[in-house]
Amino acid sequence: MKIAKVQKVESSFDLECKDIAADKSISHRCAMFSLLSDKTSYIKNFLLAEDTLSSLNIAKLLGADVKMDGSSVEITPPAKLKEPFDILDCGNAGTGIRLYCGLLSGIDGSFVLTGDKYLRVRPMGRVANPLREIGAKIDGRENGDKAPLHIRGGKLKSFEFESKIDSAQVKSAMILAALNADGKSYYRENLLSRDHTERMLKGMGVDIKNVEKDGKEWIEINPITKPLEPLDIRVPADPSSGFFFAVAAAIVKDAKVVIKDVTLNPTRVESYLALKRMGANVEFVQKEDKYEPIGDIKVSYSGKLKAITVDSNIAWLIDELPALAIAMAVADGVSVVKNAKELRVKESDRISSVINGLKSCGVECKEYEDGYEIRGGNINSATIDSCGDHRIAMSFAIAGLLNGMQINDVECIDTSFPNFFDILKEITKVENEDRAS
Ligand code: S3P
Repeated sequence: MKIAKVQKVESSFDLECKDIAADKSISHRCAMFSLLSDKTSYIKNFLLAEDTLSSLNIAKLLGADVKMDGSSVEITPPAKLKEPFDILDCGNAGTGIRLYCGLLSGIDGSFVLTGDKYLRVRPMGRVANPLREIGAKIDGRENGDKAPLHIRGGKLKSFEFESKIDSAQVKSAMILAALNADGKSYYRENLLSRDHTERMLKGMGVDIKNVEKDGKEWIEINPITKPLEPLDIRVPADPSSGFFFAVAAAIVKDAKVVIKDVTLNPTRVESYLALKRMGANVEFVQKEDKYEPIGDIKVSYSGKLKAITVDSNIAWLIDELPALAIAMAVADGVSVVKNAKELRVKESDRISSVINGLKSCGVECKEYEDGYEIRGGNINSATIDSCGDHRIAMSFAIAGLLNGMQINDVECIDTSFPNFFDILKEITKVENEDRAS
C-alpha cells in the first residue's frame, strides 16, 4: 500500500499551475469518439492517467491504430469496429464503462465490459435499462446491474427518454446509442449535466440540437449515415483536478493560485462559484473557445471562509464536493450539502468517506442520506483511509496543509491525476512511502 504524509504548510504560496491533469471527461470522449470517424484524430494533452488510458486501450482492442508521443495521441479508427478477442477492462472508470456500453450496444459483435473491484460494485442499470428498452442486449451480474457486462450489439430503436437522474454518463450513453438507431431520438434531463458529448459530437458533424417539444426542452439526435469528421483538439486542464489547489489557496493564509488553460464550461465550474460564495477571491479569464470555453481561474485567500448551503445544481459540482467539504470544515458556521445522494455511488460512498475522514480530524459533522452538515472549526492531523477513491485521497492531502495528514492507499490518485503530489510538493513537504499492506 502507498501512503502519503503531508506536512503543514510553512508559508503562504503563489502558485501558477500549468500542469494540472488534462480533463478526464474530455479525454475519455476523445478515445471513444475518434472511433466514429474514418480519418485520423489528433489529440494533444490527452490525460495520461489510468482511467483514460483504459479507454484508449479499449479503442485499440476494437481495432484502432493508436500512436502516442507523450500526451499527443493520433487515433486511426478501423474501417469497421472489430469484435475484440478479450474482455474490455475499464479499470476504475464509470465514464469509460457507461459510455462504451452505449456505443457498443449498437455495434455488431460480442463485448464484455468490466473494471476493478470498485467499478464492479457500481450500478450499471441506469444505462443498461434505458438501452435495453431500445433493443440493446445487455446482461451482467446481479440481474444485469453490475459489471462484468456482456453486450451483444445490434440494431437499436429510436427513442424519447426523459431521464430521472441528471447524469452526463447516462445522457452520453444514450446519445451514442442514438447515433446507431433507426430514426431521430430525443433525450431530456432536468438540469443540464456536463455537455462535452454534445459539443464534441456536434463539432464532428453530428446533427444534434436542442429543440422544444410539448413546452419542454429536449436534445434531438439524428443517427449518423456516414463517418464523422475526425477530432483535432487540445484537451484543456481538468477543473475538477484544479479545484484541489483552489481549495488550498482558499484555506491557507495569503495564498494564491492560477489554474491555467482549464475548461470554463459552465457545467464544470460551479464548485469555484461555491468557493466564491464562501468568500474566497475567484476570477475567471476566458482566452479561447474551441468545442469549449477555455481560460485561467485565479483563486486567492481572502480571510476566514463563511459556511454555505449547497442544495441545487448538484450535477455541476458533484465531483468537487469532497474537496469543498475541506473548505467547509474550516469555514465560519455550519455548511450543509443536500440533494446529493449520487455521492453514494461514486468511486466510493463519498458521503461516508467524507464524514468518516472529517470525524477522524476532529471536525463536527452529521451524515444525511443525501448529504451532510459540517460545523467549521479546525482540521486536526489524522490518518485517513482513501477508500480507494482518488478524490478522497486528494481532498485530505489538501486538508493536511493546515496541520499535517497521513493518507493511506493513495495509489488511486493515478486514476485521474498522476502528478498531483509533484504539484503539492511545490507548496509543502510530502513523504511518499510504500508499505506492506
Ligand atoms: C462524468 C459525469 C459525472 C461525473 C464523472 C464524469 C462524465 O458522472 O461525476 O466523474 O465524464 O460524463 P454522472 O454522469 O454519473 O453524474
